[in-house]
Amino acid sequence: MANTDTGKMIRPHLANIQTYKSIDPPELLAQQAGIPESQIVKLNGNENPYGPSPKAIEAVAGAPLHIYPDPQQRKMRQSLSEYTGLRAEHLIAGAGSDELIDLLFRLFIEPGDRILDFDPTFAMYAFCARVCGGELVMLERDEVFEIDMDAVRESIDDRTKIVFVSSPNNPTGNLLPDSQVRELLDTGLIVVVDEAYFEFCGHTVAELVPEYSNLVVLRTMSKWAGLAGLRVGYGIMAPDIVSHIMDIKSPYNVNIAAEVALLASLEDALALQANVDKIVAERTRLQATLEAMPGITPWPSEGNFILCQMPDAAEAERVYNDLASSGVFVRNFASERLKDSFRVAVGTIEETDAFVAALRECVR
Ligand SMILES: Cc1ncc(COP(=O)(O)O)c(C=O)c1O
Repeated sequence: MANTDTGKMIRPHLANIQTYKSIDPPELLAQQAGIPESQIVKLNGNENPYGPSPKAIEAVAGAPLHIYPDPQQRKMRQSLSEYTGLRAEHLIAGAGSDELIDLLFRLFIEPGDRILDFDPTFAMYAFCARVCGGELVMLERDEVFEIDMDAVRESIDDRTKIVFVSSPNNPTGNLLPDSQVRELLDTGLIVVVDEAYFEFCGHTVAELVPEYSNLVVLRTMSKWAGLAGLRVGYGIMAPDIVSHIMDIKSPYNVNIAAEVALLASLEDALALQANVDKIVAERTRLQATLEAMPGITPWPSEGNFILCQMPDAAEAERVYNDLASSGVFVRNFASERLKDSFRVAVGTIEETDAFVAALRECVR
């Protein structure tokens, strides 16, 4: 029997990598809180409480699961073209926008290349940078979570290749102003604008894609279309980048259930947008409720979540734990900047009421 020490063979930069802090599945959360799964209020993943379109569910049930999906994603790209108003050549789908983030790193970044990222933000960019051995340049957002363009310009050198900005930003909720998008594009770097929450604000820079060869816009079906569990997202970018990603992606990256669900969802976009509208209305109500509560600062949000700042880190941790033991799960953060905060997803009216009632109990 061979007794190979495989640990020694692991690429050095991956051996002790700081991994992605992901969220636990509902059954585990329920177990932790000691309550049945049906009673937990899960507001930690920015998921859509209304779930998928019934047409998507029907399509998945009837999908030919024994057949590989189309590697060229022809139907999806055509349908996304109609949805976005951009040509199919500009579009590519991934197993969640997470996969497209990973593919962009694989395509552009080699060890030593530099990536600009803006803290606090979605942790996948930093995670993928670490995995591919890129050098992460983490710039601090200012006191209202905006980007300092002077700091951006100062930090660029000839090893800097790509900049990632989430807009609206997860978890702070603010948009990247259009003027800053253009300033970033004018640096000549590859600019990835992650619009995972586009449908909740209606603001996009996708129409700039035909004009700028260095702009990549990422979107997902996880949030507005309620397909987080199926893993399907898409990117909008120059046909040339699409073609290079096509060349390196695994051929059947988007599974056939996800493919038919995406197609059915886009056909049912109006109904899904009605759910989005309900979430946006609920966001307004939750924001106002939180503003009226002493000791909590809710940041304005263009997404389906609200960042809540507490007086200090100890209080944020206490509230997070108290909420969890009453079966209400929000997202907390380990970073210095956000350890006094938590993020709550906007759910149904009932979920908001349950969250607010539990919160009132613990901040009393
Ligand atoms: C900003 C941002 N981008 C991308 C994603 C990932 O989306 P997907 O489920 O399509 O991988 C998320 C998920 O929370 C997100 O917040």
